[in-house]
Amino acid sequence: MASTVAFSFHDLGPDRGSFLEDVLAGLASERKVLQPKYFYDEAGCALFEAICELPEYYPTRTETAMMREFGAEIARELGAGCALIEYGSGSGRKTRILIDVLAPVAYLPIDIAAAQLRAAAAAMAGAYPGLAVCAVCADYCRPLVLPEMNGVNAARRVVYFPGSTIGNLTPDEAGAFLENARVVAGAGGAMLVGVDLKKDPARLVAAYDDAQGVTARFNLNLLARINRELGADFDLAGFRHEARYDAAHGRIEMHLVAGRDQRVSIAGREFDFRAGETIHTENSYKYSVAEFQALARAAGFAPARCWTDAGELFAVHLLHVPG
Ligand code: AVJ
Repeated sequence: MASTVAFSFHDLGPDRGSFLEDVLAGLASERKVLQPKYFYDEAGCALFEAICELPEYYPTRTETAMMREFGAEIARELGAGCALIEYGSGSGRKTRILIDVLAPVAYLPIDIAAAQLRAAAAAMAGAYPGLAVCAVCADYCRPLVLPEMNGVNAARRVVYFPGSTIGNLTPDEAGAFLENARVVAGAGGAMLVGVDLKKDPARLVAAYDDAQGVTARFNLNLLARINRELGADFDLAGFRHEARYDAAHGRIEMHLVAGRDQRVSIAGREFDFRAGETIHTENSYKYSVAEFQALARAAGFAPARCWTDAGELFAVHLLHVPG
């Protein structure tokens, strides 16, 4: 036999919370809010894939091109024989570009969504015979102990977190998240993280309020999902999508704005909306290179390299864990 396919699946039993409880609490608060993690039901995932293809939404295509352009250099910095730990499991396009040049000894995707994780990890195992694939169903926002990988002797652990998903967290949360990731990477390990850069607010707003209205559908799907899964009676025509840039916080905010006074019932509870009142559905923080490096330093990393594209739209940071 020339090669072996090694695939394992570990369920660490993450606490998934309750969609209903989170929705009720978010809509009962003074400033109504819903968590962006709930965007990604089946319809939401399909809409997000469509967002990534939009002319205005530059992050995905820019980061993918950067992995092609800088992948070999990144691989040289990381060195041979590492265990690649990926937080989240999306389409895997950027990850495949990295694996092609890095040739890690093991690949450990970590995601809270079990079915998506299993499918993505199995596809990777099929595409890379001989690569030990160890899928871990867990919440990577919490402290995490990875399973032992028998027979795998990695030179170092590298945590890969592409997509600027870290932008969904407040800077305080991002700092705590980075500290957890540093512990997972361990002494002598590293983290490679994609981060959207600060730029012209008009460009940012366009990326989150596209001409075709795909992002609006993505945002409104959250209400449709609450109707579908929680038996609510949101009238989607009563709300419109809004994206704004808050320069003081350095973040894009997405909101759903009530077009008129209305009352919505969810699981026997009623919620009143005044015309113009909003539900805050997402933050997407943007960091200059220096700002993100300061955040990483405060979390105990030593920033080693940072790559940006020619248009200065996006950054890929390499952080070392002191040995
Ligand atoms: C997946 C969180 C990185 O903030 O750009 C895209 C989500 N929301 N368009 C982002 C998103 C609206 C995206 N992240």
